[in-house]
Amino acid sequence: MPSFSTLRTKIAGMPVVDLARQFGTPTFVYDAAKIDHRLSDLAAFDYVRYAQKACSNLAIVDLIRRGGALVDAVSAMEIRRAFAAGYKAEGLPPPIVYTADIFDADALDLVVEKNIHVNCGSADMIDQLGSRTSNRDITLRINPGFGHGHSQKTNTGGPQSKHGIWHEQLSDCMELARRNGLNVVGLHMHIGSGTDLEHLSQVCGAMEEAAIVAGDSIYTISAGGGLPTPYKESEEPIDLAKYFSLWDGVRKRIQKRFGHEVSLEIEPGRYLTAESGYLVTEIRSIKQQGGNTFYLVDAGFNNLARPILYGAYHPISVVHAHDDADQSEIGVIVGGPLCESGDIFTQEECGYVVSRRLPKARVGDLLVIECVGAYGSVMGSNYNSKPMASEVIIYCESVHEIRRRQTFEDLIRNESIPD
Ligand code: LLP
Repeated sequence: MPSFSTLRTKIAGMPVVDLARQFGTPTFVYDAAKIDHRLSDLAAFDYVRYAQKACSNLAIVDLIRRGGALVDAVSAMEIRRAFAAGYKAEGLPPPIVYTADIFDADALDLVVEKNIHVNCGSADMIDQLGSRTSNRDITLRINPGFGHGHSQKTNTGGPQSKHGIWHEQLSDCMELARRNGLNVVGLHMHIGSGTDLEHLSQVCGAMEEAAIVAGDSIYTISAGGGLPTPYKESEEPIDLAKYFSLWDGVRKRIQKRFGHEVSLEIEPGRYLTAESGYLVTEIRSIKQQGGNTFYLVDAGFNNLARPILYGAYHPISVVHAHDDADQSEIGVIVGGPLCESGDIFTQEECGYVVSRRLPKARVGDLLVIECVGAYGSVMGSNYNSKPMASEVIIYCESVHEIRRRQTFEDLIRNESIPD
């Protein structure tokens, strides 16, 4: 569980003030031990496949690989990241799986050339892969007809979602695969991100029905990702034992029906990395505007887009840079430097700005936005020509920079002015 304290001095045993001094702000800091712990929570599943879209820094993907997990890739560059972090192209189970609803030209070329396992989310993917290669194993991502997420924008099932093969088209897709010389060896369902146990377990029934339609060529089922992680003190961690036993029950029934072993995979992103990440920022201005107090920090939605995109809540703590700090709390709104009014970290869905009880602070104090290890730095941008933040990892109190802050030269590298 995150600490949920609004005052902080250290991250993974290291003083935040020292980290800020050494690496500047804003900087993402990851606590490697938290990722290791989360990975070990999932040991009951046959395979954990990390959805690297949550945090694809090579050092994080490498850490997860060394922890024994497989990896998911959603683009040609994510496949290349997996290689760069030490994953092999081929093996059983496939070390890297490409999961998507389309192939772009680069992804199709790479999966064909490197023999990467494909989890097809559309009939067109089956056709396009089949036109380039045959006698390959594939899996199918099924949209079971319903979905759920922490926000409507992260719901990936149901008729309004573009994702997956619609459940009623499964038998047509099995036939399409057969005609293309592709063997469907597994099924996958991912109904959304940050969903709850009730909705996640509904998928079990849908998976069982889909496996019956697909038939006994199925050797693997994937529960997808979506495992929630607490961002607020009031949120309970998911009951993993219950979640596993629901899926294990489905797997056992499918095994019995088919008379052969069926492996059970899970594909988390957020669960593994969210809690490990901290965005260390500096308070650069404190303003009073019509009765509201604003702490304006040097990170914005160019660094962490989740609040502006989903009204997502992140724990926030203050690190006093002065010894004589007043530790009492006041209600504040926390915003960033961008030239856009939505650049507020304390907002709810639809952009409603809210205040948060935080310790009194002064300009020059640090402010840490927590639980940002998933969908934090990876969703960063260069809006307002802000460089991408640096990233740092702490393993057993040993600190390493794993991405340096972008420079002006990095920013304009691919730009040119025509003659
Ligand atoms: N598998 C598939 C096919 C997915 O599309 C995703 C997430 C995952 C696994 C991992 O889901 P997770 O375990 O991390 O919930 N930007 C949003 C989340 C978008 C997730 C997209 N797909 C956020 O910040 O909440």
